[in-house]
Formats: sequence, structure tokens, C-alpha cells
Amino acid sequence: MTDLVSTIAEARTRLDAARASGRRVGMVPTMGYLHAGHRSLMDRAVSDCDVCFVTIFVNPLQFAAGEDLEAYPRDLDRDLAMCEQAGIDFVLHPTVEEMYPFGVPTLTSVSVAQISEPLEGRSRPTHFAGVATVVAKLFAIAGPCRAYFGEKDWQQLAVVRRMAVDLSFPVEVVGCPTVREPDGLAMSSRNAYLAAEERVAAPVVHRALQAGAALIAGGESSAAAVRAVMATVLATEPLGQPDYAEVVAAGTLAEVDPLAGELRLLAAVRFGRARLIDNVGARTPG
Ligand code: PAJ
Repeated sequence: MTDLVSTIAEARTRLDAARASGRRVGMVPTMGYLHAGHRSLMDRAVSDCDVCFVTIFVNPLQFAAGEDLEAYPRDLDRDLAMCEQAGIDFVLHPTVEEMYPFGVPTLTSVSVAQISEPLEGRSRPTHFAGVATVVAKLFAIAGPCRAYFGEKDWQQLAVVRRMAVDLSFPVEVVGCPTVREPDGLAMSSRNAYLAAEERVAAPVVHRALQAGAALIAGGESSAAAVRAVMATVLATEPLGQPDYAEVVAAGTLAEVDPLAGELRLLAAVRFGRARLIDNVGARTPG
């Protein structure tokens, strides 16, 4: 039975009791409207840990004015059913007042320089400080645990990993592979925004990233050439408005040219109301 917990105090009480009896805690932070991508994180947590909880909180700090905070899809009953099926012990679903008793924006904010700045950071300059701040709070609430994040949000994963080390949170951050639809579209709560014809067009994002990765695997070492092939593939779908399609160092997200070592190709493309992001890995041969 998955319990619904709405206060930080109750979550802490449960987790302290679990640890006192020697059980390992796993946490899966989410904004809800759960899908198979979230489910893969839960399955990993349940297989690794003894007591697992999911957080469902649409975090206002990480949305800028004019973004989709109010429209963000929600379905708590369906989410709870998925958590139950996955064997999650409880869901922490706090109100905004519970998380931010002094209101939003908070006076205290966590920001991770450099890694937050390129790519998503250019289009959404306050986004990663909002993510880092809420994840820091969730780490402080959870205490020692393993916390599961998706590679789907590669830059977010890099930000969270660095924050956990820089601030010495007693948390092991575990990155999990991206779960995709059969046609390659990365699963996302925001896919719900896609109109039928946009849904048909959206897998172009993954195809573009794969084309870039294939070029690198074939020996291409010019970042401009890889960017150009991704742009060419994206241009085949006029319904998609590319925001960026870049290749960077996988760990630091810094530009590398000529390309060398562990790389990540990342893209953001707008289809109507939906802004989709995706990424794949690549490594230069030899
Ligand atoms: P949300 O978009 O709900 O995603 C929650 C977690 O699920 C993130 O770690 C995300 O990377 C992972 N995820 C989403 N789609 C996935 C997919 N297709 N395959 C694998 N994992 C996937 O990311 C957030 O919420 C928020 O920013 C949060 C970290 C909860 C902070 O508010």
C-alpha cells in the first residue's frame, strides 16, 4: 500500500525510523503526471533500496513567468496507482506552502554556476536555480539516501550531481537511462501538450541527435559539422522550431572543438505549446 504524505515532518519521521532499523532509503523526485520514464526510476530504486518514496511537487521556483506552471499536467490518482504498482512505500506530495512557508521566490537559493549556464540555461536563465533549490530541500528532507534522476534531463542531472558534491549532501545520485516511445520520442509529461500532427513530427529530435552521434562515431571531429547535420535533420520537420542542437563535453557541458572524449549531444525543439528536450551520448573513436 502506497501512503500519501503531505508534510515534511511526517516524511522525516518515516525515513528516520527506516534508517534506525538499518533500512536503505531511496528517493525519486518528480513533478507528477508519471509515465514509464518515471516508472523506470522507481523500479531501480525499489530494486536497490529497502524503503522507497516518490516526491510529487510541481515546483514553482523552476518555472519562469509565462511558462507552463498552471497548465502543467496533473493526475494524482493515476500517479498513486503507478507508485503502488511499483512497490513505492509512500508519496510525499506537499503543498507549495508546506515547501515554501515564506512564499515564492525564496530568499535562499542554490545555484550551480557554469553547468547551469549554456543550453537550457540560455533559454531558461532561472530554471536550474529553481531545480537546485528544490532538490537541495528534498535532500535535506530525505537525509542519507540514494536519489534517482533521469538522463533524459542530462543538464539537470549534471547540476544535481555537482550540487550534491559541492554541498556535501549525504546522498548518492544515481542517473538512469532515458525511456523512449517505440518511435524514439523520449517520454515526457510535456508530450501531453502535443497535437496529433506534432506527435508524429516529434521523433525528429531523437533522429537528429542520432545522426550527430553517428557522424562522431564515424570520426568527425568538427563540432560545427555535427551541429550542421543535426540542424539539417531538424529542418525536415517544419512543425518543430529548434531552440538549440549542440554537442558538448558530457560532464561539464563545456564546448569542445575539436571533439574528443565523452560527449553529449543535446537539443531543445518547440512543437506548438510543447518545448521538448532530449540528448544522447557519443564518444570519438580511438
Ligand atoms: P520530472 O520532469 O517529473 O522528472 C522527474 C524525473 O524523471 C527526472 O529525474 C527526469 O529526468 C526523469 N525522467 C523524465 N522523463 C524520463 C524518461 N523518458 N526516461 C528516464 N527518466 C525520465 O525533472 C523534474 O521532474 C524536476 O525538475 C525535479 C527534479 C523533480 C525537481 O523539481
